[in-house]
Amino acid sequence: MRAPDPTPPVEATSSRDSGLAADGTAELTIVVPCFNEAANIGPLVAALDQALAGLSWEVIFVDDDSPDRSWELAKRLAAADARVRCVRRIGRRGLSSAVIEGVLASASPFIAVMDGDLQHDEARLPAMLAAVRGGADIALASRFAAGGDASGLSAAWRHRLSAGGIELASRLLPVRLTDPMSGFFLLRRELFDQVAPRLAGRGFKILLDVILSAPRRLRVVELPATFRARMSGQSKLDVLVLVQFVAMLADKATGGLLPMRFIAFAAVGALGILIDLAVVAVGRRVGLAFDTAQVVATLVAMVANFWLNNAITYRDSRLSGPQLWRGLALFMLVCGVGAAANVGIAQSLYRSHSGWTPASAAGAAIGVVWNYAVSATLVWRSR
Ligand code: GDD
Ligand code: MN
Repeated sequence: MRAPDPTPPVEATSSRDSGLAADGTAELTIVVPCFNEAANIGPLVAALDQALAGLSWEVIFVDDDSPDRSWELAKRLAAADARVRCVRRIGRRGLSSAVIEGVLASASPFIAVMDGDLQHDEARLPAMLAAVRGGADIALASRFAAGGDASGLSAAWRHRLSAGGIELASRLLPVRLTDPMSGFFLLRRELFDQVAPRLAGRGFKILLDVILSAPRRLRVVELPATFRARMSGQSKLDVLVLVQFVAMLADKATGGLLPMRFIAFAAVGALGILIDLAVVAVGRRVGLAFDTAQVVATLVAMVANFWLNNAITYRDSRLSGPQLWRGLALFMLVCGVGAAANVGIAQSLYRSHSGWTPASAAGAAIGVVWNYAVSATLVWRSR
């Protein structure tokens, strides 16, 4: 019998050149969430290569199926360079959840989290690593520590938003930080693995989430860093991200008693009631019969609620294209059951002038829970 040919291992570069340790492992994993960052991925890998010379490292891009096919580019780089990896997620959105998945895919002792748009200064990484090696639980690149620079924040409203968020977060945080909203930090994987099951995992503020979910008070070291201006692509942060941020704080403040999604769903529902009342009032003014105005108002409120839930409550599994219309139809069907009851209640209230009764309040509460439970499982079920 002939022994099989001893085929040499296929390697794009030798492990010594690649920056990985001789056994192919990395000391430091840099997790980079990305969405539509095609122009930035190549330059970022080159910048890491420069900044981390002498260290064994790898970078994991976690891409949410970017329309600009960032994931394709990252995988092409990965095919030629063992230090580059890419996770492509389908049907999901979210910076925090992308980071969590990237970290969980790593086996390195140290993890850094950093943006994929070149706004974070990769040259700070060695100092951050040294700080954690030296005993810090988390090393955090701060734009607001003495010597830091936040000039990359594109607009005045971003500066105000940042200041407001820091103020709000500081009330909850067990440690005083100049930049709890930073998206650039380094920690031991062991620590992350420990808190991972408790993370809220939604929105933009993964660092806050980690600190608030930790079982003990963490030693956080802040290093001043410059937040550079974005060169290509666009920021994905918007007002709805802020809503999610507040919901995350509420979740943490209540010890996870109220899940964020339910808070958001109930808030949207409350807004829907206001919309409903407003449309009835307008309808009555332009001369519609009460019953007609009520039906029109219910329809308008349902469409508005669907849109808001899709944009906020279920932002991470947002529906679009044909799925959006299918979702709207299902949502109206599901909530129609609740709405029919509500219309009935409203009409009898209107006729009897008996006002808001405990029974109608209970009815509304049951309606919210019904709508939440059914729409979570049917309309926005995770694929
Ligand atoms: N996978 C994935 N999914 N990545 C995302 C998503 C998403 O839904 N949304 C954003 N990203 C990626 C972006 O591609 C980028 O690499 C990084 O997350 C940061 O997103 P930006 O849209 O550039 O955010 P920013 O610059 O406005 O905000 C950054 O700075 C803030 C401080 O002002 C982030 O680091 C924030 O966490 C930080 O608070
Ligand atoms: Mn950015």
